[in-house]
Amino acid sequence: MKIAIYPGTFDPVTCGHLDILRGASKLFDRVVGAVGINPGKVPLFPAEERVTMLREAAAEAGLVNVEAVAFAGLTVDCAREWNAEYIVRGLRAVTDFEHEFSLLLANEQLDNSIQTVFIMPSVNYLYLSSSVVRQASEFGRRIIPGSVPTCVEERLREKFGF
Ligand code: COA
Repeated sequence: MKIAIYPGTFDPVTCGHLDILRGASKLFDRVVGAVGINPGKVPLFPAEERVTMLREAAAEAGLVNVEAVAFAGLTVDCAREWNAEYIVRGLRAVTDFEHEFSLLLANEQLDNSIQTVFIMPSVNYLYLSSSVVRQASEFGRRIIPGSVPTCVEERLREKFGF
C-alpha cells in the first residue's frame, strides 16, 4: 500500500491545498493531511480546528482516502508514524522552489527512505495562499470567490462577523 503524508500549516486549508490533495489521492492509496503545530507561528485557527477543517474539506471534495491529523516535531517522524514512504508538497511557482528544495534536502538528510513528491496546482490556484485568504477575511471582510471550501468559509465568516 502506497501511503503519503501532505504536511502543512493549513491555516486555513484552501482550494489550492485541496487541488494538491486531489492529485495525491489519485497517486497514493492513502493520504494523511498532516497539520503542523509550529511553536514559532501564531495561527489564526488552533491546530484542532485546522484538522477538523481539513477533514471536512476532504470529505466535502469526496476524497475518501484522505484523512487529517495534527503533528508536532519533524515531518519525517510523522511520516514514519503513519508508515508513509512519501511526502507530498505543492509547488505553485518558481518562488516556492528555493524553500521547498531546502525542505526536501533537510528531510532527505534526516531520513533518506522517504521520498518527496511535488504536485503543481491548477492555474486557478497559483496565486492562492492561506495568508491571502486570512487577509481578505480579516481586513476586507470578504471571501475571495472559489478560494476556500464551504466549511472554511463558514468559519471565517463566523470569526470575523460578516
Ligand atoms: N495552495 C494554497 N496555498 C498553499 C499551497 C497550495 N497548494 N501550498 C502552499 N501554500 C501556502 C500555505 O497556505 C502557506 O501560506 P501562508 O504562509 O500564506 O500562510 C505557505 O504556502 C506555506 O505553506 P505551508 O504548507 O504552511 O508550509 P510551511 O513552509 O509553513 O511548512 C511544514 C509547514 C509543517 C511542512 C513545516 O513547517 C515543517 O516541515 N515542519 C516540521 C519541522 C520539519 O520537519 N522541518 C524540516 C526539516 S528540519
